[in-house]
Amino acid sequence: MDRVLSGIRPTGYLHLGNYFGALKNFVRMQEENNCYFFIADYHSLTTHPKPGDLRTNIKNVLVDYLAAGLDPEKCTIYIQSDVPEVCELALLLGMNVYVGELQRVSSFKEKVRRQPDNINAGLLTYPILMASDILIHRADKVPVGKDQEQHLEMTRDFAQRFNHIYGVDYFKLPVAYNFGENLVKIPGLDGSNKMSKSDNEASCIFLSDSPEVICKKVMKAVSDSGPTEAGQSKSQAVENLFSLMEAVSTPDTVAFFEEAYQKCEIRYGDMKKQLAKDITHFVAPIYERIITLRSDDDYLSKVAKLGAEKARESASKTIREVREIIGINYN
Ligand code: TRP
Repeated sequence: MDRVLSGIRPTGYLHLGNYFGALKNFVRMQEENNCYFFIADYHSLTTHPKPGDLRTNIKNVLVDYLAAGLDPEKCTIYIQSDVPEVCELALLLGMNVYVGELQRVSSFKEKVRRQPDNINAGLLTYPILMASDILIHRADKVPVGKDQEQHLEMTRDFAQRFNHIYGVDYFKLPVAYNFGENLVKIPGLDGSNKMSKSDNEASCIFLSDSPEVICKKVMKAVSDSGPTEAGQSKSQAVENLFSLMEAVSTPDTVAFFEEAYQKCEIRYGDMKKQLAKDITHFVAPIYERIITLRSDDDYLSKVAKLGAEKARESASKTIREVREIIGINYN
């Protein structure tokens, strides 16, 4: 069985874009792979969250993961900092990583541009820690979006370098696990082509949004002044409303509004009402589980504990073997 691994930084609630872009596929993957899904709390420290916020965010992501259908019996769900072995591996790998190659990483360069007053060492060494996350479980496949491809490539470089230096064939070279056709890109409600919390929180529908909040957000979504002639192409904002509808509504509903658009008879108010209703209906089972899980701290602790045990078992085996290979085996 292939080992699949993915992590998410706990920065808040998960939204529909996270769901269709990743979570939904994780739920499928857990059926036919040995999956590790973790909450990357160490990574999130680069932005210096307040302790209380960190704790809340970790809980929220765990709740969202479980509510969306990840099953702790089928996969390993854990919190990164519960597996400190990952830090030791990062330290060891770091000895063969060059500062220059870290400085050339595009996500690092972007941070330097965007936040010159907080270029901490954690940002620079981010790819080493991420490589350790992956290599500590000797994962075969990593489901990643475009923005993480360079990090995965570096993971392969570091793994290969380690193998080469010590003359072993120890680390496997992990490959991107592309969801192919299953990947649905969810646009924002603000006219942007991607639902993104860091760009605009108001453009996001969170899995934990109540029906009232969903309705409010959708009714406020950006549209345009409407088509004036048949066959007119759609603005990005209206295209977005149709994309969202395709994700959550029936084909008949989409066809109905498509026809109305083509005939210049569309009323965006009606379309948004329908869209809000269909999103609410779609999210309802997840939303209900979120509400239940939130007040079940006992269960959440149990899940985290079980995940930590399973993850540490795999991680400590790797660390033992890596130490052996490096020569840290004095007795
Ligand atoms: N860097 C990823 C992100 O920003 C999170 C992450 C950390 C991760 N470690 C990972 C993803 C290992 C995949 C595998 O979203």
